[in-house]
Amino acid sequence: MHPQPLEGKTKTIEQGPMPGTVRLVAKDTLTAGDAAKVAVLHKIGTHKTMQAANTFAYLNSESIPTAFLTNDTPDSLVCYDCDMLPIEFVVRRYAWGSYLKRNPAYAGATPHRFDIPVWEMFHKHAVVAAPTAPMTTMMPENEARSRYLSEDGWADGIYTDPYIRMGDDDRWHLYSAKADQATAEPLLNIPAPLTEAELEHIVYTIIMPAFMALESAWERVQTAHGPVRLADIKFEIGRRKSDKQLILADVVDNDSWRIWPGGDPAKGLDKQAFRDGDPLSQVTENYALVTELTKTFV
Ligand SMILES: Nc1ncnc2c1ncn2[C@@H]1O[C@H](COP(=O)(O)OP(=O)(O)O)[C@@H](O)[C@H]1O
Ligand SMILES: [Mg+2]
Repeated sequence: MHPQPLEGKTKTIEQGPMPGTVRLVAKDTLTAGDAAKVAVLHKIGTHKTMQAANTFAYLNSESIPTAFLTNDTPDSLVCYDCDMLPIEFVVRRYAWGSYLKRNPAYAGATPHRFDIPVWEMFHKHAVVAAPTAPMTTMMPENEARSRYLSEDGWADGIYTDPYIRMGDDDRWHLYSAKADQATAEPLLNIPAPLTEAELEHIVYTIIMPAFMALESAWERVQTAHGPVRLADIKFEIGRRKSDKQLILADVVDNDSWRIWPGGDPAKGLDKQAFRDGDPLSQVTENYALVTELTKTFV
């Protein structure tokens, strides 16, 4: 299926050991700011692999369909080969991160907790617009990166991970993920890549149940500050090539969520410390701890 290895930001995809499978080989790389910031950390790929294996094994045991099959080397996962949807699904228990840019009314000293988790979608392709491009178009993020990311950061008019709002017209409207949604104008609209029924299936039988299961698993983890609160999480969905079924794919690891011991964002054990420029030794220590904690899931 993948005779040529496929290079991503954080992993390489190789042909798997059985037909219909791929091997996801983790790199020792962390990225932030849509890869504007990159660092190599010793053994981080092994930690991310173990975290993903523990997380997906747990979700499989909770009858949530994932692509994960086995973890037979320290830095790789064997998964069903999927056609990936170019969409990131985010589920939030707390209003935090970029959500506050889109919805500034939720900003406050302590994070707002949603009684029912909120879900959002972001497109994995970048929108390329004025003043850098004469016409508004979309392109894969790696192409946008090679053209428009320099030492000075992203060029103006490049919108990575654009926020998706469904129109009444069967089209998806794309917005800057950083713009206040009360006043933002759409950058572009595209034909919906999923039917309403498929989207409903993804939301109510995959991502919401996966969030609830992982939230419970983290609540069972006790720390000196109290139980760990799952604040938010990013999921990717694939269509298994063998039977076209929609399943949870890519990985869920410590890059994918915000986890707050005792519900305190300042004590977070996830990738936020890396985004915020904390010492890399601290970041590595957090990843090692999270690997240990995810062992309690199954
Ligand atoms: N089960 C799977 N089957 C096929 N492709 C997958 C699977 N899981 C992840 N991928 C793909 O592997 C590629 C590499 O992953 P990653 O390094 O995270 O890339 P990216 O830079 O796009 O985030 C991505 O294009 C991702 O969609
Ligand atoms: Mg990725």
